[in-house]
Amino acid sequence: MRVISALSERILRSVALFSLIAFIFIIVAAPALCLQAPIQLPAPQMTGGMPLMQALAQRQTARAFADKPLPMQTLSNLLWAAFGVNRSRDVKTGLGRTAPSAMNKQEVALYVVLADGAYVYEAEQNKLRPVVAGDVRAKVAQGAGAHAAATIIYVADAKLDYAQVDAGFIGQNVYLFAASEGVNAWFYALHGADVAIALKLPEGQKALYGQSVGYRP
Ligand SMILES: Cc1cc2nc3c(=O)[nH]c(=O)nc-3n(C[C@H](O)[C@H](O)[C@H](O)COP(=O)(O)O)c2cc1C
Repeated sequence: MRVISALSERILRSVALFSLIAFIFIIVAAPALCLQAPIQLPAPQMTGGMPLMQALAQRQTARAFADKPLPMQTLSNLLWAAFGVNRSRDVKTGLGRTAPSAMNKQEVALYVVLADGAYVYEAEQNKLRPVVAGDVRAKVAQGAGAHAAATIIYVADAKLDYAQVDAGFIGQNVYLFAASEGVNAWFYALHGADVAIALKLPEGQKALYGQSVGYRP
């Protein structure tokens, strides 16, 4: 009788331990493993907006944001203005983009950090490919950028010197779009190593700069 109760006690303990481990996994590990679905952005609107000279007159850095998401259409327009495809495929030069790049390498990747996770902008497909689940905005952005609707992290091969310049062109596109749209934008330096961990960047890829965009508080 004692042997049976000792055995059932051990089974009960094992079941309890297994349930505890399963519970911890569900709460802590599972959300990180389940990536959000890819986002097919609506086609960007390539007409309209503010006249260029007026957008230039209003371009500025503003470091405060309301924690309110941008509509998908605005996000699509923003990313297209930043580094979207503006010319069809050409055998010699490849896709034409809204920003130039050294040797037309089009090397800079735009990691788009939203409240629900981080994505890579796939310009040709006009898609956001998920790379990290959950809100990592505070891990990648400076200051109030942590609650901006969207933070773009400019990522490139760490060995490519020209990538810094390429990122600058894209950043100015974002500033001009923000001025035209009446939202705030802020380009800034990053703690590259921390951001690389938060965004699970592939080996050899470097986070160069961040740029947060969002509604005014
Ligand atoms: C390469 C680069 C790095 C920057 N890094 C930071 C930064 O780390 N923190 C910050 O608050 N602003 C940063 N800025 C924004 C500048 O401070 C800002 O552009 C400058 O003060 C001029 O203001 P304006 O953009 O409103 O004309 C950076 C801008 C550039 C171009």
